[in-house]
Amino acid sequence: MNLSQATALPSTPRGDATHTFARLVVWATLPLILFGGSITSLDAGMAVEGWLTVESSQGERLLWLYPIEDWFQNIGQFVEHSHRMVGTVVGLLAIGAVIAAFATGASSTARKVTILALVAVCVQGTIGGFRVLENSPQLAFLHGALGQAVFATLVAAAVVTSPRWTAAAPVAHESASSLKALATRATVSVYVMIVSGAWLRHTNDPLALSLHLLLLFAVLAAVVLLFKRLLDFKGGLAHLATSGRRLSWIIKAQVTLGVLAFLAVMVWYGPSATGVHDSILPTLHVLGGALLLGQCLAIRLWVGRLLKQEVAA
Ligand code: HEM
Ligand code: HEM
Repeated sequence: MNLSQATALPSTPRGDATHTFARLVVWATLPLILFGGSITSLDAGMAVEGWLTVESSQGERLLWLYPIEDWFQNIGQFVEHSHRMVGTVVGLLAIGAVIAAFATGASSTARKVTILALVAVCVQGTIGGFRVLENSPQLAFLHGALGQAVFATLVAAAVVTSPRWTAAAPVAHESASSLKALATRATVSVYVMIVSGAWLRHTNDPLALSLHLLLLFAVLAAVVLLFKRLLDFKGGLAHLATSGRRLSWIIKAQVTLGVLAFLAVMVWYGPSATGVHDSILPTLHVLGGALLLGQCLAIRLWVGRLLKQEVAA
C-alpha cells in the first residue's frame, strides 16, 4: 500500500461537545498530577486531615468550604487542598462528558468510554480519600500507580470520542499486526516502569531503583523502535508520523527528567523535599511518565483504528 494514497483523515470539527469535555478532562488532569506529585515529593499526604469533611482552623468543614487562609497557610496544605479541588473539577468535567455523550446521541462506544472515564476518576478519588482517612502508605503507592492508568484511560476517552476517530476508514498495510504488537509492548512496558517508579518513590527501596533502571532497556527498545517506524507514514496517515515525533520528544524529556530526579532525590536534596525548588524535578518526572503512557496508548489505539493487516496475494 502506498501510504501517500491513503484517504486523508477528516479534521476534528470544532464544537463536538462530548469530545470537547473529554479533552478538557485530560487537560485538567495535568495540574492534578502536578499537585499530586508535589504532595508525595513534599511528604505532605496528611497536611489536610479528613476527606469530604476536613479539619480546619475553624473546625470541621466540607472540603469545598475549607477556609482560604488554611489553604494558603503553607506549601503542604496548599498542594494537598489544591489537589483535591482540581480533583473536583476533573470529576465535574468527566460528568459533563457523560451527559454530553447521551444528550448528543454519540456512538455507543463514545458513551461507554465516557462512563469508564468517570468510573476511573471516582475510584481514583476514593482511593485518595481512603489514603488520607487510613493514613496508609500502601494506599499512597496504589493511588500513585493507579493515577497514571487513570490518566491513560482519560486520554483513551478523548481519542475514541473524536469525530476523526468515528470518520476514519482503515487502510490495508503489510505491517499493521506487527505495529499493533509493538505499540502494545511499548504501552505495557512503560506502565510496568511506572509501577516500579511508584514503588521506588513510596519506599526508597534500592531494589526498586535497580528494577526501574533495568526496565529502562525494555522501554527504550519498544518506544524508540515504535516512533522510528511511525515516522515513515505520509499523506493521509501523516497523523501517525506526528504522533511518532511527539513520542520521541516525550521519551527524550522523560529520560532526562529521570536522571535529574535521581540527582535531586539521591544526591542534591534527599527524598523529602521542603519547597518548590527541590520537589519540582521528581514531580515533573511523574508527569512525564503519565504523558509517555498516554501517548503510547493513543498510538496503540490509532494504529488499531487506521491500519488493517494486508493479506498476501
Ligand atoms: C481523579 C482523581 C485523582 C487523580 C488522577 C490523582 C492523582 C494523583 C497522583 C498522580 C498523585 C502522585 C502520586 C505519586 O507521586 O506517587 C497523587 C497523590 C495524592 N493524592 Fe491524588 N488523585 C486524585 C484524587 C485524589 C483525591 C480525591 C484525594 C483525597 C482526598 C487525593 C489525595 C492524594 C494524596 C494524599 C496524595 C499523596 C500521596 C502520598 O502521600 O504520597 N487524590 N494523586
Ligand atoms: C522512560 C523512562 C522512565 C519512565 C517512564 C519513568 C517513570 C517514573 C515514574 C512515573 C515515577 C514516579 C512514580 C509515581 O510515584 O507515580 C518514577 C520515579 C523515579 N524515577 Fe523514573 N522513569 C523513567 C526513567 C528514569 C531514569 C532514566 C531514571 C534515572 C536514572 C529514573 C529515576 C527515577 C527516580 C530516582 C524516581 C523516584 C523519584 C522520587 O523518589 O521522588 N527514571 N519514574
